[in-house]
Amino acid sequence: MDRILVLHGPNLNLLGTRETSVYGTLPLPEIDRQLRTLAEKEGVELTIEQSNSEGELVTLIQKASGRYQAVLINPAAYTHTSIALRDAVAAVGLPTVEVHLSNIYQREAFRRHSYISDVSVGQVSGFGAYSYQLGLLAVIHHLRTKPQQT
Ligand code: DQA
Repeated sequence: MDRILVLHGPNLNLLGTRETSVYGTLPLPEIDRQLRTLAEKEGVELTIEQSNSEGELVTLIQKASGRYQAVLINPAAYTHTSIALRDAVAAVGLPTVEVHLSNIYQREAFRRHSYISDVSVGQVSGFGAYSYQLGLLAVIHHLRTKPQQT
């Protein structure tokens, strides 16, 4: 069974009360519950972590090597600032899908650049909490259709 690591970056623990006009009212545990339901239906195993710390996220990505087949990540503000996170994704080489609740291209100019997107398989942005489900489906699709390594 494929194992997928789901990572939530800084301030996403505040979902539900944080800038609800931008991020919606669904709390993070509810998003995680939806992801687990979808994972069960699709026959994949999830580990879900949230961290406000850049270093901790880097360590989690490093440790994913050999334990997981793919990573689904909302790097939150580190999307726009973290070369360390990007280097970790590139170093580990696991297929990674980037998700954002908001459409980062419709917001402030500083949110329009992602350090993660060009080391990712792809990005889902702008569908609220549903971005995560679309992202998980995209990861699963990628794992099931990518050419087998020999
Ligand atoms: C976010 C977008 C980021 O710009 C922001 O810093 C976040 C959340 C999103 O999911 O829309 O914290 O990643």
